[in-house]
Amino acid sequence: MRKPLIYGNWKMNLNMQESADLIASMLSIKIDYTKVDIGVAPDFCSLAKVADTIRSMGYDISVGAQNISVEEKGAFTGEVSADMVLSTGADTVIVGHSERRAIYKETNKEINAKVRAALRNNLKVILCVGESLEEREASVAKDTVLYQVGMGLHGVNMDRMNKVTIAYEPVWAIGTGKTATPADAEEIHASIRAHLSKMFGPVVANKVRILYGGSVKPDNVSALMMRENIDGALVGGASLDATTFGKLINFNS
Ligand code: PGA
Repeated sequence: MRKPLIYGNWKMNLNMQESADLIASMLSIKIDYTKVDIGVAPDFCSLAKVADTIRSMGYDISVGAQNISVEEKGAFTGEVSADMVLSTGADTVIVGHSERRAIYKETNKEINAKVRAALRNNLKVILCVGESLEEREASVAKDTVLYQVGMGLHGVNMDRMNKVTIAYEPVWAIGTGKTATPADAEEIHASIRAHLSKMFGPVVANKVRILYGGSVKPDNVSALMMRENIDGALVGGASLDATTFGKLINFNS
């Protein structure tokens, strides 16, 4: 059985004080931590503050960065290394989000280098994949997504796959209010798992959590989570309000 994981991606929305306020509100919500794993991805500047708040109150909530450098150290002005992220108390990094692919032109090759840099430094990875509207309409959604999975995890040792989560986020569903139907999402999730099985074998593939992302809200989360291969959600907009995010986390209570 894969334990559900609900992860909030705060994107570039909150300054450090606002991030501190949001995590404080989240921690005041009653959650059954035996049923669900939770994580939040603040901006780089707020990572340490959020991680400190969570740990000092004794909670087991993952803290993730939204990006990292492929480089380890050196003259790379403006970059943030995996080791720097770890040193804030964060344990995870989101790699290959569609906003990074589309706006910052990150390639599958670069995303693969980031995945490997993170894993080399013992950071967990949430690897995001997803097709554009044009790709869906051209009936190449599945091919696109499986190519991204294969490229993103190229050269990753199967022993490190326990640190990898996949997030399937159809680009046309992110921040638009549109969601894939649970059946459509399940079809892609199942094919991602089959692909992981080809790459790493069925035992590893069955343990990897595959999250769905794209306009996940309290009113659609349960139908998505009922599907066999949907193991959680990567949530943007709805993670910025503690009460709404709390409803998502408590989807099965
Ligand atoms: P959304 O974003 O929930 O606002 O659609 C999801 C994401 O970008 O991870």
